Amino acid sequence: MHDTPHVIGISGSLRDDSGTRIAVQRALDAGADAGATTEHIDLRAWDLPLFDPDAIDAGDGPELAARVREADAIVLGTPMYHGTIASPLKTALDYCSIDDVEGTTVGVLAVAGGGFPTPALEHLRASVLELKGWPLPREVAIPDSWAAFEDGSIADEDIAERVEKLGVDVVAYAGVAARPNDTEQSELMTGD
Ligand SMILES: Cc1cc2nc3c(=O)[nH]c(=O)nc-3n(C[C@H](O)[C@H](O)[C@H](O)COP(=O)(O)O)c2cc1C
Repeated sequence: MHDTPHVIGISGSLRDDSGTRIAVQRALDAGADAGATTEHIDLRAWDLPLFDPDAIDAGDGPELAARVREADAIVLGTPMYHGTIASPLKTALDYCSIDDVEGTTVGVLAVAGGGFPTPALEHLRASVLELKGWPLPREVAIPDSWAAFEDGSIADEDIAERVEKLGVDVVAYAGVAARPNDTEQSELMTGD
């Protein structure tokens, strides 16, 4: 854990006008306001071939895994594609291992053209758990993406607030996995 929490955001859409990227950036901006250093990993700029277990060092995969490993908290955003996680984000996660994600606080958000992207959130949360990350229980679902974003910003104030809260929460809970080692926390848990 860095003295100043370091939060990275990864957005699963490669689309130029991606709402997911706008939302992830908004969460990171809120995290920065809450005192974190932040980095938005824009997958358009990363060379990540379809993941091949026989070529785990392909392209920028090792560098991406290193950035994930360095992060104290992560914001993951995905568009819902065919009821699940979009492939660019899934590919990025496939380059990461438990060693990179274990113990890291993760906030998740998903964006859909239709109704609530609940399946995509469930699947993303399941991946985070398999990687032994700590997904925050308060996730952000953004439905009706055609109306949710306007001029590079989040149009709906309620959604914007929820996204900002996600950014603040990942900072507040960064390092949560280490907390049982804190004396104060141990006392709370044991009642001493
Ligand atoms: C291949 C593909 C599959 C999609 N599948 C769904 C879907 O299952 N449900 C849905 O509500 N929207 C679906 N959409 C719409 C996207 O979720 C929506 O356009 C979203 O805003 C894309 O995110 P972005 O703005 O970050 O690119 C799909 C879009 C694409 C391109």
